[in-house]
Amino acid sequence: MYKKIVMKRITIAIDGFSSCGKSTMAKQLAATLGYVYIDTGAMYRAVTLYAYQAGLMADGKLNEEALIGMLPQIEVAFTGDGGVLLNGNRVDEAIRTVEVSNWVSKVSSLKQVRQKMVELQREMGKNKGVVMDGRDIGTVVFPDAELKIFVTADPKVRAQRRYDEWTAKGMHVDFDEVLRNVIDRDYQDQHRAESPLRQADDAIVLDNSYMNREEQLNWLVAQVKKV
Ligand code: DC
Repeated sequence: MYKKIVMKRITIAIDGFSSCGKSTMAKQLAATLGYVYIDTGAMYRAVTLYAYQAGLMADGKLNEEALIGMLPQIEVAFTGDGGVLLNGNRVDEAIRTVEVSNWVSKVSSLKQVRQKMVELQREMGKNKGVVMDGRDIGTVVFPDAELKIFVTADPKVRAQRRYDEWTAKGMHVDFDEVLRNVIDRDYQDQHRAESPLRQADDAIVLDNSYMNREEQLNWLVAQVKKV
């Protein structure tokens, strides 16, 4: 007779600073557990792309009112293989451009944009069995998540990772500028009025400054088993 071991499906929230490798670890963890992975940053990026394409940043300033008015026309979804859809079109690459990266902090700081995205995220995660990564998942989207991880790493280590990534792509960047950018983004994420980045009281901190991917995945799976 086989003894069937059924593991309870849970909600896993992964929040933390930018450039910590959250998406990579969340994706790996979801694949290991057979869970759905949801990249909430990609959703804010897709809204930003819509606004950009609609010309709402044309004069160097975001037309917030127009964007809020257009929200009902913006549909963001994921394909089964993790692709991002904006009104039915696949935008995986288009949401990673410098323009979108530069405007996404502004767009994601709007209360109405956040309300719409949070509602969608709750719907996507309602059946559990999800790994969701972002900034406010453990604090706002799923405050009752069974497992909350807060990821951090030394700013210098994160800047070095970004610097290596860009240099490998043939881009010329200045390390000090990359470091300044990492520190600035941390500040903006932590000090915005709407849902600032904050460690939930019941989150477990993961400092991955000196961990490789395998060590990190093993550590995460161990946390899931404890739950
Ligand atoms: O994780 P990322 O760099 O792709 O996120 C893009 C932007 O969206 C970033 O400026 C932070 C913001 N964001 C947010 O405000 N809330 C989330 N849950 C996820 C991302």
